Amino acid sequence: MCGIIGYCGPRPAAALLAEGLKRLEHKGYDSAGLATADGGTLTVVKRKGKIAGLLEILPPDLGGSYGIAHTRWATHGEVSDINAHPHVNCAGDIAVVHNGIIENFTALKEKLQSEGHVFRSETDTEVIPHLISSFYEGDLEGAVKKTLPLLTGTYGLVCVHAREPDRLVGARNGSPMLLGVGDDEMFIASDLTAIVTHTKQVVYLEDGEVVVATPRGYHTTDMRNRVVDKKVEFVGWELEAIEKEGFSHFMEKEIFEQPQSILRAMQGRIDHENSTARLGGLNMTNRELLDVERVKIIAAGTSYHAGLLASYLMEMVARVPCSAELASELRYRNPIVERDALYFAVSQSGETVDTLYAMRELQRKGARVLGICNAVGSTIPRESDGGVYIHSGPEIAIASTKAFTSQMTVFYLFTLLVARMRNMSIEGGKEFIENLGRLPDLVQTVFGQKEHIRRLAKKYCRYKDFLFLGRGLNYPVALEGALKLKEVSYVHAEGYSAAELKHGPIALINDETPCVFLVPDDALRGKVVSNMKEVKARSGRVIAVCVEGDQEVMDVADDVIPIPKVGELMYPFMMVVPLQLFAYHTALELGRDVDQPRNLTKSVTVE
Ligand code: AGP
Ligand code: GLU
Repeated sequence: MCGIIGYCGPRPAAALLAEGLKRLEHKGYDSAGLATADGGTLTVVKRKGKIAGLLEILPPDLGGSYGIAHTRWATHGEVSDINAHPHVNCAGDIAVVHNGIIENFTALKEKLQSEGHVFRSETDTEVIPHLISSFYEGDLEGAVKKTLPLLTGTYGLVCVHAREPDRLVGARNGSPMLLGVGDDEMFIASDLTAIVTHTKQVVYLEDGEVVVATPRGYHTTDMRNRVVDKKVEFVGWELEAIEKEGFSHFMEKEIFEQPQSILRAMQGRIDHENSTARLGGLNMTNRELLDVERVKIIAAGTSYHAGLLASYLMEMVARVPCSAELASELRYRNPIVERDALYFAVSQSGETVDTLYAMRELQRKGARVLGICNAVGSTIPRESDGGVYIHSGPEIAIASTKAFTSQMTVFYLFTLLVARMRNMSIEGGKEFIENLGRLPDLVQTVFGQKEHIRRLAKKYCRYKDFLFLGRGLNYPVALEGALKLKEVSYVHAEGYSAAELKHGPIALINDETPCVFLVPDDALRGKVVSNMKEVKARSGRVIAVCVEGDQEVMDVADDVIPIPKVGELMYPFMMVVPLQLFAYHTALELGRDVDQPRNLTKSVTVE
């Protein structure tokens, strides 16, 4: 679930592993640890809490040219020093770090205990080093390959043996793993960010694959020992992409990056001559696209909100029936796959298990599933039948911001493409493209409100419950605004359609429940203003995000965040940015750990 890095090569392993752990820190974790091997002895150092705490107890002279490290997001066993990874066998000569869950660990543990193995932790992971040691006959790779078929569940893991110098053995089943190929050194990691400062040459492991790495080479096989030839891929990231570059937090940096990231999502994808979009990665002919009778979108969290927004847009603009569903729900309700439906799996990380497994279930039933993802080379884009990268660059903060607006941008382009094949004229397409093209500059103007939003966050941060209310295209934005506030400030917030207020949530209204209303200048504006008045009539507090100069809204609301007037379809972009800033500043006011909010992790690779 969390982070793994392993190293073998000429440099001292401990320092590299510590640096790798820090690069993994953004993913959210509760404890960390590392093991290095030197002169036939393994040293394991691990501790609950932040990596800084681990580094305090790390012996400065810790030697060894190979080792493994881990940030844990506890699933089995409390957060404690002992339950932190790496875990070792009884003799302490085999160490393992593991992401994921071993579902059959209880039975395995009982059997191993009956054979005399002594367990130290409460984790599911600890069965792995004990099993490996029970098969070990001088060959770590062979022992790992005998162990893996016994494990039910998900894993990305790396292990080392004290007396097999400079050798890492990694395996993957359901949890991402990759190999970083350096000059006379190798890395195995769960995430590119851990290694990208050292090498840009990467081999992505697939489920069921095992990799053995030494400083001078590597080989990959499946579990039955058949060689698998892997392609070395080049990662185009620059270091700045994973640095804060003068911002206080990654979340702040990523919010402010949106004019550029929205532009990147559009670049090269607009066919001005024909007033349409060009999305080659879809792998679909025009004829096939025309045969699509409905579009279905699956995703989780923020990506689901982007999908929900797309479902409104597709129907409004392209007149194609479209719905969005939580991937976790779809998978277990035995989904009906319609022949003329096109599916999208939306995921920033490309690794979210709920979305990945739902995609596989749909594909098993014959569906064509396209991916809309950010992390290049991640599992969903690799396994999907085509798709579009949003090109946001690495999103480091746990709370997703720039990926959301880029996912939206790609859906706007897809909508344009489909609409232009059906009911949209060349002029209509031209206008749509002009509106899209103005977005980067328009989003930039919202940043002028930063200080004002910071003051509002200060004023409202003591409240315990918020409602976020919007309609139409801005209803999913209200959901997203509430999620952002919850995630980073731990303040309770709910998003609703403003029309739903009267069907229940209005019972919550009093002067302790601020309501954030999204009031664009669109066809539903009048109705939303009425809803605002209903709240004021019940002593509620109203913060409105509205078009600058909207006097009626200013008269009703306690506070407003003004945004420029834009084309009706473009308001979601203008609305969500102030909500991201509001969440960010509220979290700061409350002293929260903005980039690594408690209990959250960047890619959720367990169900
Ligand atoms: C976003 O702020 C959240 N941390 C979370 O809801 C996230 O959007 C969700 O887990 C889906 O992630 P994905 O886009 O990587 O699939
Ligand atoms: N299931 C393991 C544990 O609880 C691994 C957790 C993780 O993925 O970080 O220790």
